[in-house]
Amino acid sequence: MTDDLSRILPEPWRVKVVEPIQLLDKRAREKHLKKAGYNLFAIPSEAVFIDLLTDSGTSAMSDEQWAAMMRGDESYAGSRNFFTFETTVREIFGFPYVIPTHQGRVAENLLFSTVLKPGQIVPNNTHFDTTRANVEANGGVALDLVVPEAKALDSEYPFKGNMDVVRLAEVLQKNPGKVPLVMLTMTNNSGGGQPVSLENVRAVKAVCEKYDVPLIIDACRFAENAYFIREREEACRNWSVISIVREIFTFADGCTMSAKKDGLANIGGFLALRQDTWVQNVKNRLVLIEGFPTYGGLAGRDLEVVARGLREVLDERYLQFRIGQVRRLGERLLEAGVPLVRPIGGHAVYLDARRFLPHVPPSQYPAQSLSVALYREGGVRSVEIGGVMFGRRDPKTGQEIAPELELVRLTIPRRVYSNTHLDYVAHVVIECFRNREAIRGVRIVKQAPFLRHFTAEFEALA
Ligand code: F0G
Repeated sequence: MTDDLSRILPEPWRVKVVEPIQLLDKRAREKHLKKAGYNLFAIPSEAVFIDLLTDSGTSAMSDEQWAAMMRGDESYAGSRNFFTFETTVREIFGFPYVIPTHQGRVAENLLFSTVLKPGQIVPNNTHFDTTRANVEANGGVALDLVVPEAKALDSEYPFKGNMDVVRLAEVLQKNPGKVPLVMLTMTNNSGGGQPVSLENVRAVKAVCEKYDVPLIIDACRFAENAYFIREREEACRNWSVISIVREIFTFADGCTMSAKKDGLANIGGFLALRQDTWVQNVKNRLVLIEGFPTYGGLAGRDLEVVARGLREVLDERYLQFRIGQVRRLGERLLEAGVPLVRPIGGHAVYLDARRFLPHVPPSQYPAQSLSVALYREGGVRSVEIGGVMFGRRDPKTGQEIAPELELVRLTIPRRVYSNTHLDYVAHVVIECFRNREAIRGVRIVKQAPFLRHFTAEFEALA
């Protein structure tokens, strides 16, 4: 694994099908930016050269997954693909009750609409937006308890996704009966794609057990997290990734999953549970919002593809390349002095826009300005995770409060881009960094009351 070749190993696959992409000329890119109101969500994907908006649902399927699509059994009830899906999830995660959904947020919806009562608290290392929204929509309080090291962007602390167990114990002790479950997001997407250690999972479970509260894992990037554990946790050096995965989930009472990430699928997800306590109510709601319990909003062929993807993602050669590819991009940028979140995360490189553009004040949205600049420079689409996404209004003064971090996420789809594509991305980012003083801020001219980042329109400041 760590021999000399590991640093230069190419993609562990060869290409069977190609999808052309094109770089529009500078004038065309500028026109698209203007038309989109400087919001990259409003740019048609065909006008994007390298699309790093998300790693969700953007994976390339393998030849085996395409073959699996032909094995779709589209029966309404009891499709054979469901049984393959169920067996696969049981074998990998160890949970007997498997409820398919069409994506991760529906698993969250099912869980919180069934289990959470208004006023209750859900602790998590850091809630992903949809998790937070589902907790809050059901009247709950979403509490982030990530370790303090996570806030020090330069620290090389190896497990910045860990939960602060001391604070967790305090919360559980002070709020008896008010915490229906504890969540751990692996890896911690909103905190820079950072992993949670096995030791931390164990410690969190011990606290949960003491207060008799179930632990549910957000498993979106479970394989990437397990790979980091093998790499960084002394006790697991000689373990296989699958045995680390199995060990992690022995400490959990269930998981929510978006198969659009480490399921290597374009659509799919599930909620899996150890006990049957919530299962009937969850299934009742499933029938209402998704479909019958053996398809849960998916076609039979999709279930087969996810089952296959969950096994492929555990291939260690794949994981070695995957984590290495993201790291290689991050390291190239670091060498050029580009400020970013460290250590480099599992699925993305997170640029620190505040230090990248110190002359752009938070009120002019530095992360949004930088993501616009990357598209303008080279047709690269990234995603803003800063003041546009998370800015809140002070209810008293009406003034906008900027979030702690202004990040631009370069999210790497799985098995889609080659190292050459990412060298190009590095070049574009470094060019922008060299000419950073010319990058100006933006002003919001139109916005929606909720989730404004999807549709806001901006004006470029002179
Ligand atoms: N949990 C985490 C940690 C996620 O990153 C996501 C999605 C979800 C839950 C929801 O899953 O999209 O299938 O409903 N993250 C995507 C992203 C959208 O771009 O980071 P979903």
